[in-house]
Amino acid sequence: MSEATPLDMIKTSLDQAKQRLELAQDSDDLEAWRLEVLGRQGSVTAMMRGIGELPPEIRKEFGKQVNLARKQLESAYEDATANINTGNHSSDALDATLPGTPTLRGGLHPITVVRRQILDVFTRLGFTTVEGPEVEQDSYNFGKLRIPADHPARDMWDTFWLNEQNSDEKLLLRTHTSPMQIRYMEDHPTPPIRIAVPGRCYRYEATDATHEWMLEQVELLAIDKGITLANLKGTLQEWARQMFGAKRKIMMRHSYFPFVEPGVEVAIDCFKCDGSERDCGICRGSGWLELLGAGMVHPDIIRDAGYDPTIYTGFAAGMGVERIAMVLQGVTDIRHYHSNRFSFLSQF
Ligand code: DAH
Repeated sequence: MSEATPLDMIKTSLDQAKQRLELAQDSDDLEAWRLEVLGRQGSVTAMMRGIGELPPEIRKEFGKQVNLARKQLESAYEDATANINTGNHSSDALDATLPGTPTLRGGLHPITVVRRQILDVFTRLGFTTVEGPEVEQDSYNFGKLRIPADHPARDMWDTFWLNEQNSDEKLLLRTHTSPMQIRYMEDHPTPPIRIAVPGRCYRYEATDATHEWMLEQVELLAIDKGITLANLKGTLQEWARQMFGAKRKIMMRHSYFPFVEPGVEVAIDCFKCDGSERDCGICRGSGWLELLGAGMVHPDIIRDAGYDPTIYTGFAAGMGVERIAMVLQGVTDIRHYHSNRFSFLSQF
């Protein structure tokens, strides 16, 4: 076997140095290795110094190879340093005293929170929660609620019409949750009925701080023997107290909705200023805050449902969840709720 040449020696010590570098566990190990290999007393430097003792014909090639080896080792050293600093390599890189990376916690949407609050109160008052379709038939959204085609009352609800898939009847995105009154009565031949119906509704209208094209409502329907306007008032009074505080009063003023008679608009007294502040953000100085529509179910609707209107009466109410949420949460623009901005949503 021939003796190892000086060039072979370079290769051997390059391999060995690389192997030892891989064993380095922390920055102390790395520094020791650096001094031993690349430092002034290191093995690479020693090889450079030894050039003069070599036969002249191989000096040039030897010098070139040592330089190449040094470059490789320097870059291996840099990689090892980077690895150790980012904790890829060493158990030592875990510093348990550093603050952790915070985990982002999810939460309920502010509208979900208020919808649940509303339904919780009605559940305690004995109402069962049911849901209905968002794609609705013309007849349920309007006709059966005594809003025939061409009736001016239709203008109260700007409508998103859908393609006429079945030519029998036009489909639409429901403009309110009231159609579920009809659907539920049709499915339940005998009262009593006490339901709360949450759900999304859609309006084909321009948006501004108080109008959105999509909104949530909660509808109420109670049908039984001997239900009167006093039951409606008592139910909403108790609901208002549980939602807005034990001192709340409600006021009912006459209003028109085709499916109730009489129809009312319900307001609560201002929980912020009692009407004493002219520029109150809640009531604008009026002392009252309009919250919802309600009324006694029209006798025609009771009859159409197959109930005897001389025996059964009932009340209905419909409220917008966003409107109530805005009041409770101090939100001044309804469009914030569904804009999906984290900076808004993370406040709740
Ligand atoms: N559905 C009505 C609307 O969206 C609100 C309403 C008014 C519902 C009176 C009722 C009611 O049940 O009795 O404008």
